[in-house]
Amino acid sequence: MDTTRGGHHKVALASWPTPLEPAPRLAQALGLGPDDLWIKRDDLIGLGGGGNKVRKLEWTCGQALAEGARTLVTSGAPQSNHARLTAAAGARLGMDTVLVLAGEPTETAAGNLALDGLLGARIVWAGSVGGAELAAVLDRVVGELRERDAAPALIPFGGSSPVGALGYVDGGHELLAQAPDLATAVVALGSGGTMAGLVRALGADRVLGVHCGAVPDPGHTLDLLLTDLYAPSPAPRQPGLRLRLDQVGAGYSRLTEPVAEAVLLAARTEGLVLDPVYTGRAMAGLVTAVREGDIRPGERTVFIHTGGLPGLFGHQEALLRAGEVLAACTR
Ligand SMILES: Cc1ncc(COP(=O)(O)O)c(C=O)c1O
Repeated sequence: MDTTRGGHHKVALASWPTPLEPAPRLAQALGLGPDDLWIKRDDLIGLGGGGNKVRKLEWTCGQALAEGARTLVTSGAPQSNHARLTAAAGARLGMDTVLVLAGEPTETAAGNLALDGLLGARIVWAGSVGGAELAAVLDRVVGELRERDAAPALIPFGGSSPVGALGYVDGGHELLAQAPDLATAVVALGSGGTMAGLVRALGADRVLGVHCGAVPDPGHTLDLLLTDLYAPSPAPRQPGLRLRLDQVGAGYSRLTEPVAEAVLLAARTEGLVLDPVYTGRAMAGLVTAVREGDIRPGERTVFIHTGGLPGLFGHQEALLRAGEVLAACTR
C-alpha cells in the first residue's frame, strides 16, 4: 500500500514484515543461550534478490514518483547491491534505470552486475575513479537525461538520504513489534542509512553498527543523517552511538580472516549464508562483541541480515577461499 508521512511519499515494493528466526545453534557456538540470538531476515525481502536497500527504495522511489520522475539514476561500485535493487525497483515500477558504476566495462558479468543487466538497467561506466569524479559523471548523466526529457530522479549513494533512512525507521518499529525485549540489533554499516533509521526507531543504546569501510568517516556520516531524522530534537552522537570500527581490515573490498571464519560459522551452524563485504563483517563484529562482553548471555540480540548474497559471486578473494574450503571437503 502506498502512504504519505511528514510530506514524504512511500511506494510499496515488497510484503512486510520480514521473518524473525531463532539461531540457537549459532548462539550456543558463541557462548550465548539458545534463545538469545535471532535473525531478522531482510535478505528475504521479495524484490530483485532481496536486501536492506528495498526498505529505503520504498521512500526514495516514492519521492521520485511524487515528483513526476520516469527514470531512476544512481551510482556505486560494480558490485553495488543498492544499484542492483534500484534496477529491480525501476523494473517493478515501470521506470527506466541508469546505473553509473565506478569501473571499466567487463566481458563477463558476475554477481550483482549479472543481475543489473537482467533487470534491464542501462550501465554507464565511469572508469576507475574516486567519489568526486564519480559524482561529476553522475551529474553529467542526469543533465543529459533532463535534456532528453527523460525526467530523471537521482537516488542517493547507497539509498542513504534522510528520506531513504525512513525505511529503517519503519524496519526498527517492525522489529520491535516482533521482539519487544530487544537488547541489541547488530547491523552492517555502509552508507549509514540503515543504522541511522534503526537508531531513530530503537534508540542509540540498542543498535550496534559494524563499519564495513564504504565511507571514510562513519561517525560523521551517521551524525548528518541523525541530525535530520531527529530534527528539531538533538540527535545522539558518539560516544553514545555503538559503533565497531575494527572489522574493515585492508579495505572495503578485501576479505579478512575473522569475516571468513564468521561466514563459515553461520553457514555451518544455521545454514545461513552471508556475504564477504557487509553481513560477514557484521557477523564478525557480533562474534567479537560477545567475546568482549558487549553482547551478553540472557539478553535478546537480533542480527539484521541485510542481504548481499549476489556480491559473494562477484568477489574474487571470497570465491578463492570458497574453493579452498571445497577442496578440504573433497578430501
Ligand atoms: C548487503 C548490505 N548490507 C548492509 C549495507 C549497509 O547499509 P547502509 O548503506 O544503509 O549502511 C549495504 C549497503 O550497501 C548492503 O549492500
